[in-house]
Amino acid sequence: MKSKISFKTALSLLLDGEVVALPTETVYGLAGRIDKEKTIEKIFLLKKRPSFDPLIVHCYDKKQALSYISGSNFILEKLFDFFSPGPLTIVARKNKKISSLITAGKETTAIRIPQHPVMRKVLKELNIPLAAPSANIYGKVSPVSANHVLSSFHNKVPVLDGGKCKKGLESTIVYPDKQKKKIFILRPGMVTKKSIESFIDKEKLSWTVENKKDLNQPGSQTSHYKPTVPLYILKTEKKEKEIKQFLSKKFPNKNLKQLHLDNSAYKTARKLYSQLRQFSNKKENLIFVIQKKKYSGGLWEAIWNRLDKASSQVLVP
Ligand code: TXA
Ligand code: MG
Repeated sequence: MKSKISFKTALSLLLDGEVVALPTETVYGLAGRIDKEKTIEKIFLLKKRPSFDPLIVHCYDKKQALSYISGSNFILEKLFDFFSPGPLTIVARKNKKISSLITAGKETTAIRIPQHPVMRKVLKELNIPLAAPSANIYGKVSPVSANHVLSSFHNKVPVLDGGKCKKGLESTIVYPDKQKKKIFILRPGMVTKKSIESFIDKEKLSWTVENKKDLNQPGSQTSHYKPTVPLYILKTEKKEKEIKQFLSKKFPNKNLKQLHLDNSAYKTARKLYSQLRQFSNKKENLIFVIQKKKYSGGLWEAIWNRLDKASSQVLVP
């Protein structure tokens, strides 16, 4: 039986090629050294992740990150300078040092320089990048605490406890396209489109930012981030009382649990996955969330991206 482990143990397990759950500022990651194929295979197996879905490589700093990228890339460097360490993942052409197991056969790799002090200390001392998907079973809710990891894997994965994740939602994944001079957002996340646009402004670049909607997009499966009980999105401006009456009539045998949205998207993101897990504790529960117009723009786009994939249906009462 494995459970919470010390920093020293985590480091020696990682060195030995074991898989360890580590805290990041977004969500916990299921981490392993990138230079051992057996370790990478173990990550896929533990997570039950299909081998066609590539992993993010976590680096300590820009210098380390660039040593895994093929050729020079000024926009990549500028993005790292501006947003890292932090919740921005950049997709770029990989070199031979990145195994195609990690990238699921792609010629590109996704790289992120995380901000969490514990994760940074691990990366610094290890001096080897870590591949890490979110530390949950494939398709389920991401973990934002060490206990979430333990319950996701029934205590089978050792975890280094770094407290509750401060951001609570995954990183934004971007692909800078040099030919088109466009930064494509492949997965919306903690870094908003607006902040990437203000980066372009500040750097006086003639680039634009675009949401990329295609089938190969990260987490593009319509069902993802799923709680174990049904979740319904109610798109309406109607009063809460009316909505609850509508739901009780439609689902008379269910125990209704309302997902609370704060006026601040950042506060909402921080609590989102904990609420989803908490409300999944009884199988007769039904989670609902009211999608009012005021909850839109900025970080709300990433929140609704996750909730849409987590939901069973959108209802308009
Ligand atoms: O905040 C995060 O990004 C967290 C923490 C642990 O860093 N990680 C995370 O990893 O969310 P994961 O594996 O749950 O999601 C990563 C996504 C996957 O959907 C994958 O398809 C995409 O990144 N990805 C990885 N490499 C890619 C590539 N070369 N091109 C496009 N997408 C890629
Ligand atoms: Mg994930």
